[in-house]
Amino acid sequence: MEPALKTFPSGSLSGPGEEVLEAAVETGVLDALADGAARTPAEIARLAGCDPVGARVLLTALAAMGAAQAADAEGGVTFRLAGPWRTLAGEARDLLRFRLEERRLWRSLAAAVRGGRDAVAGERFLRGGERTEAFYRHVAAMSDGLEEGVRRLGVGGASRLLDVGCGAGVYAAAFLSVYPALSATLVDYAEALPHARRTLAATDLLGRAEIVEGRFFDDSWLPSPGCDLVWLSGVLHAAAPETNASLLARLWGATPPGGRVFVAEMERAGNELESAMFDVELFLGTDSGRVYGGEEIAAMLRGAGFSAVTVESTGEGSVLVRAEKGRRS
Ligand SMILES: C[S@@+](CC[C@H](N)C(=O)[O-])C[C@H]1O[C@@H](n2cnc3c(N)ncnc32)[C@H](O)[C@@H]1O
Repeated sequence: MEPALKTFPSGSLSGPGEEVLEAAVETGVLDALADGAARTPAEIARLAGCDPVGARVLLTALAAMGAAQAADAEGGVTFRLAGPWRTLAGEARDLLRFRLEERRLWRSLAAAVRGGRDAVAGERFLRGGERTEAFYRHVAAMSDGLEEGVRRLGVGGASRLLDVGCGAGVYAAAFLSVYPALSATLVDYAEALPHARRTLAATDLLGRAEIVEGRFFDDSWLPSPGCDLVWLSGVLHAAAPETNASLLARLWGATPPGGRVFVAEMERAGNELESAMFDVELFLGTDSGRVYGGEEIAAMLRGAGFSAVTVESTGEGSVLVRAEKGRRS
């Protein structure tokens, strides 16, 4: 999954600047600057709970990079975040935090190649704490253009959406706002649910949604019956083929005849380099996932009993696979 690097001032995430930013995030120095006020290194060190000399060195580097502005004041030099960097106090800072977590995960690659993916399980995002937060905040920020995307699906006749692996609920929010007759069930790990709730509450859609905890890759999870629109975005790549087959079979069982299922995935099949890199990311970041091509996903859906399966490339390495439960299945 690609963080929206375009939201960062250009050139900021390459070279030693990356380490400087990483340290600014990790130490809390960035948080101490987030309100836009000008402060001395000593004040920032006190707020962030770090060494004053270390804070001054870091702030001077941030200023040299153009991320902070230094000014002479009565009590000595002060620092404040520079223009475009003030956005780091909000959404972009969450994306940066996620990006830094991702870089940390990639640094465990040698250990995973030596010892297998389980050797680095502790490095993954979805293990609670700060990293998990960074992940869900990242998916919460990826909502641009989703309403247009779900409008194009033309599912106005559906009555209930099941969003499997809802993350921060950005797709469910798009569906509910585009299709006023729709209600929804959202399912994910407990850690995701406050994010999903926040997204739906912000757009006044919470009343049409049920948000539930569920480990849907476990055989014991049974989808709520009666959802005639099943949505899985960025979910199947987290699991092995047999695990996905079991999930899709349970979804088939709960879907009413005529119900439709949509799988949105990053397949990257058009570009070998990106495909290979995404596979590395999934090797590190999931217990058993990998990249799937659109046709592989189509075969999984057919294997689970779905019919009328179509595969459509949606650009930038993404694929949308549609299927339905035949009325006479
Ligand atoms: C890549 S994110 C996609 C989120 C959302 N569908 C979107 O497109 O923005 C995958 C989601 O699946 C959830 N997930 C993965 N494995 C899961 C499991 N075994 N049980 C519950 N949720 C799981 C993750 O917590 C995460 O929210």
